[in-house]
Amino acid sequence: MAGQIPQRFIDDLLARVDVVEVVGERVKLKKAGRNHSGLCPFHQEKSPSFTVSADKQFYHCFGCGAHGNALRFLMEYDNLRFPEAVEHLAARLGLEVPREGADDPRAQARERKRKEGVNLLELSASFFRERLKMPEGQGAREYIERRGLSPEVVRDFGIGYAPGGWESLKRHLGEQGVAEPVQIEYGLLVHREDSGRTYDRFRDRVMFPIRDIRGRTIAFGGRVLGDAKPKYLNSPETPVFHKGRELYGLYEARQANPRLERLVIVEGYMDVVALAQFGIRNAVATLGTATTEDHLGRLFRMVDEVVFCFDGDRAGRQAASRALETVLPQMIDGRQARFLFLPDGEDPDTLVRREGAEAFKDRVTCASPLSEFLFEQAAEGRDLERLEERERFASRVLGAIGRLPAGVMKSLLLTELSRRTGVDQSSFESLMSRDEAVVDEAPPAEAPPEWADSAPPRGEAPGRGRPAAGAQASLGQMARALQLLVHEPTLVERLPEDDDWCDQSDPDAGLCREVVRLLRAGGYRSAQVLLAHFHGTPEGERLASLARKPLEMPRGVRGTELDNWVAYFQRHRQRQSPQQEYDALLARERAGERLSKEERQRLMVLLTELKG
Ligand code: UTP
Ligand code: MN
Repeated sequence: MAGQIPQRFIDDLLARVDVVEVVGERVKLKKAGRNHSGLCPFHQEKSPSFTVSADKQFYHCFGCGAHGNALRFLMEYDNLRFPEAVEHLAARLGLEVPREGADDPRAQARERKRKEGVNLLELSASFFRERLKMPEGQGAREYIERRGLSPEVVRDFGIGYAPGGWESLKRHLGEQGVAEPVQIEYGLLVHREDSGRTYDRFRDRVMFPIRDIRGRTIAFGGRVLGDAKPKYLNSPETPVFHKGRELYGLYEARQANPRLERLVIVEGYMDVVALAQFGIRNAVATLGTATTEDHLGRLFRMVDEVVFCFDGDRAGRQAASRALETVLPQMIDGRQARFLFLPDGEDPDTLVRREGAEAFKDRVTCASPLSEFLFEQAAEGRDLERLEERERFASRVLGAIGRLPAGVMKSLLLTELSRRTGVDQSSFESLMSRDEAVVDEAPPAEAPPEWADSAPPRGEAPGRGRPAAGAQASLGQMARALQLLVHEPTLVERLPEDDDWCDQSDPDAGLCREVVRLLRAGGYRSAQVLLAHFHGTPEGERLASLARKPLEMPRGVRGTELDNWVAYFQRHRQRQSPQQEYDALLARERAGERLSKEERQRLMVLLTELKG
C-alpha cells in the first residue's frame, strides 16, 4: 500500500475541481436557477430530483438522499475506491498525488520503485511505437495489416514493434540513463547466468503494452511475426506486474466507454484488439492464466455483468467449469455472469471477422446465464431418469449453490433444483443448513479461548488482546459490529450467510440485521446511501451517530475485528435463555420472514418447553 494522501491535498483538489463538471460528464444536467438538475443516477426516477450546486460544490438527490462532493460522486458512480477517486481528480488537473509515508520507509521505497518501473516501461513502450513506424518496422506493419488492424486500433492500444537485434532496447534505455539491473528487474532485459551476458527479452515481435487501470504501462506481451515458438512472450512477474491480477484491455475498454455495464473475458491479446477493431470495445483478456478471484473482484467493481468466452472444445468446457467455481462466491444479487461457447476451431478474433460485429454481439447477448450453465454442467452425461444419477446431479448443484452468497439467486436456484428433481425445496434447505452446522462446529481458529466461555467485558474489543480505542468504550456490542459495517459496507461480504448471529437481546440487533440485508441486496455500497435509506427514522439517527463516531482502527484489521465479533455473537447466542430465543424466533416469523425447517422445529420445542 502506498502512504496516506495528505488531507491538505484533498482539500486543495476539491477546491480546484468543479463538481458540476465532474457530474455533468456522466449525467445529463440542466441549469435551473443557481443549481443544475437532472435524473438521479443512483435510483430509478422519471422526473428529476437530483441537483448539483456549483456554489456549495455538492450534489444531492431529494428522492433517494444520495449526497456528496465530487470525490464521493466518483466513488459512487464509477465504483472507485477513495484513493482511486483522488487519483482520478488529480489526473484531470495534471497533479501528482502526494503520499505521506514518513512513518513507513518501506512504503516509500515501494512507491519509488513503482515510479521507477513505470517510467522505464513507458520509455520502452514509446521506443516500440517509434520503431513500428521506421523502416525496420516494415515486416511488423505488414503483419498488423494482414491481421486487419487499423491505425486507430494500433494507436488506441499503443501497439509497437521490438526490433530484431539483441541490444536495441538495452542500448536505447542505457542512453536514457536506465541501469541494466533495473532493466532486468522489470523483465525487459534477460540476464544469462552462465555467460553473464544480457540481451533484450523481446526481439522482432509485435508489442502489446499491458496497462494498469490508469493507463500506465506495467508489462508487455510480444507476438512473433511468423510461426516461431513461443508465439507470445510475456513480461515475467515484476514489482509492478502480477499476471493473476491484471487484465489486458481493461484500461482501453474504460477509455472507450467510462460507463461500461458489461465486460467480455476472452483468452488472447489478438481477440481483444480484433473485437475492438469491429467496434466491440468491452473485451478484456487474462494473460495466459485462468480467471482468478482477483480478476473478477476487479471486474465486478466496474461492471455488474461479465461474460466468459470459451472455445467449444473439451479444454474450453473445463476452463468454463473452473471459471464457474471462481465466480460463484462473488455472485451477490445484482451481479450476472454468463458463459459463451464458441464454435469449434474459432476464437473471438476469427469469429468476428467471419461473422461480423452484429452476429458476435448476438452471441454475447444469448450467452448462457450462470444458472443455465450450472444445471447443464451438472447434468452432463447423466440420465436424470435414474434415481442415483438424479441424486448425484442434485448434490453437484447443491455444492455449487452452497458456495453462493445469500440472496435471491441462491433461493431461485434452490427452487429450480427442486423443480428439476421433484424433491421438496425445504429438504434441500435443511440439507444445506446441516452442512453449515458442521462447518460451525469446526474449531474456531480466530476465536480466542478467553472469550469462548465468557463474554468479553463491555468496552473491550474481542480481538486478541488488542485494546479498544477509548472513544468507543461506550458502545454496545452489536453497535460495534454495526459501526464497522457503516464505516466499511463492503465488509458485509465476509459475514456468514446465515445471519442468526444478529439474534441478540442487544437493542441494535434488529437494525444490524436490516443493514446486513440491505447491504447484501447489493444496492447499497456506501454508508451515504445506507444513511439515506433510513433518513428521518430513529434507525437513521442511530446509524448517523455511528457513522460520525470515528473508527479508530487501522483498515487492515477491521475485517478480522468483525469476524471476531460475529464468532463471539454466535457463541453468545447459544447461551440465550429459552424465552429470549423463543421471542427472537417468533418476532422474525411475525415480521414475515421464512424460518428454516430447523428453526421452525426449534420454535415448537421452545413453545412446549415454555408453556408446558
Ligand atoms: P492462443 O494460442 O489462443 O493465441 O493464445 P491467439 O490469441 O489466438 O493468438 P493469435 O490469434 O494466434 O495471434 C491465447 C493467449 O494465451 C497466451 C497469450 O496471452 C495469448 O494471447 N499465450 C499463448 C502465451 O502467453 N504464450 C504463448 O506462446 C501462447
Ligand atoms: Mn487467434
